[in-house]
Amino acid sequence: MEKLKQMIIDEGYVIEPDILKVDKFINHQMDIALFKEMGVHFKKHFNKQKVDRILTIEASGIGIASLVSLSFDMVPVVFAKKQQSAITGHTFYSSNVYSYTKKVNSTIIVDTRFIQEGENILIIDDFLANGQAALGLIDICRQAKANVVGVGIAIEKGFQEGRKHINEAGVDVYSLAIVDSFLDGKVVFKENNEEL
Ligand code: G4P
Repeated sequence: MEKLKQMIIDEGYVIEPDILKVDKFINHQMDIALFKEMGVHFKKHFNKQKVDRILTIEASGIGIASLVSLSFDMVPVVFAKKQQSAITGHTFYSSNVYSYTKKVNSTIIVDTRFIQEGENILIIDDFLANGQAALGLIDICRQAKANVVGVGIAIEKGFQEGRKHINEAGVDVYSLAIVDSFLDGKVVFKENNEEL
C-alpha cells in the first residue's frame, strides 16, 4: 500500500536497532483516513470469503480494525483483552502470548459470547513481528470452532518469524507494508508484492 509506505518513510523512525515507531499515525495519534484506506486493501485481498466478525487485540489493533470494518459491511469488531478483570460473570476463551519485543507473558481473553461456532473471523493487527499475538487469536478462534479467514496486518517485519508461524498454522497472511530491513536507521521495504 503505497500511501502507508510513504507515511512510514516520511513520519516513521527507527529505534533500538529494529523497532519502527509510527506513533504519529498509528500507535498514538491515529490517521483515520489511512485506516479506512487499509480496509479497502484488505477487502480486495480477503474478498472470497464472507466475514462475520473482525478480531483484533488491544490496544493498537482496535483503531485499525474499527475502520477496516467499514469495508466489510460494518461487521462487529471484537478485541482480545490482555488480562481478565476480577469480576466478569462470563466465560472466556483464553490463550497465552509471549511478547519477544516486550519480554512479557500475557493471557489474552475473549468472552465466549463474542465468537460463535462456525463464524468466519478476519484477524487484523497493526504489527506482525514474531506472530505470537496472531497465533493467540487463531488459537482462540479454534477453541470457539470458528473459521479463520486470514490475518491482515498493517506493517509486517519480514525479517522476523511471524508469517512463517502463521502459515504453519494453516492461515493466510496479507500485509500492507513489509519491512525487509532497517539499514542505517532507514526502512527498506520488501518489493515484488504486486498486490501491495
Ligand atoms: P508478535 O505479536 O508479532 O509476536 O510481536 P511481539 O510480541 O514481538 O510484539 C509485541 C508488541 O510490540 C506488540 O504490541 C507489537 O505490535 C509491538 N511491536 C513489535 N514490533 C514493533 C515495531 O517495530 N514497532 C512498533 N511500534 N511496535 C512493534 P502490543 O504489545 O500488542 O502493544 P499495543 O498494541 O498495545 O501497542
